Amino acid sequence: MRILEAYNLKKTYRQNILAVQNVSLTIASGEVLAFLGPNGAGKTTTIKMIAGLIQPDAGSVRIAGSDPHRNPAALEKLGAVLEGNRNVYWRLTPEENLEYFGVLKGLTRRQARHSGKAL
Ligand SMILES: Nc1ncnc2c1ncn2[C@@H]1O[C@H](COP(=O)(O)OP(=O)(O)O)[C@@H](O)[C@H]1O
Ligand SMILES: [Mg+2]
Repeated sequence: MRILEAYNLKKTYRQNILAVQNVSLTIASGEVLAFLGPNGAGKTTTIKMIAGLIQPDAGSVRIAGSDPHRNPAALEKLGAVLEGNRNVYWRLTPEENLEYFGVLKGLTRRQARHSGKAL
């Protein structure tokens, strides 16, 4: 089953910065994809479009068959996006990071700690 599908994604920022042009990818259930490229290649912009954080100028995204830009509930299928190196705190343990971000997302400390342990 195709769990993620992105077709012909395109994004131009202001001042005509063409960040992403015609990026397509699919990921099947159980598959791992390495998405690599030099700085400025458009990786973050692509992931933001897939995660529904920015609107693509063109193209489409399906998460488990559902378009996150039309149906935000599709994003519930998305576990976590840890992109770049500023998204976790190195002085905290992985469990403490999960607890911290869980609480930011509205969980109680107890819920966050419990869901972190379940991973
Ligand atoms: N918010 C933004 N506004 C304007 N330009 C941006 C913005 N974010 C990224 N860019 C530009 O878009 C291009 C792709 O950036 P980005 O998606 O961050 O690439 P990567 O994650 O592969 O390093 C770069 O030229 C970058 O400078
Ligand atoms: Mg990046």
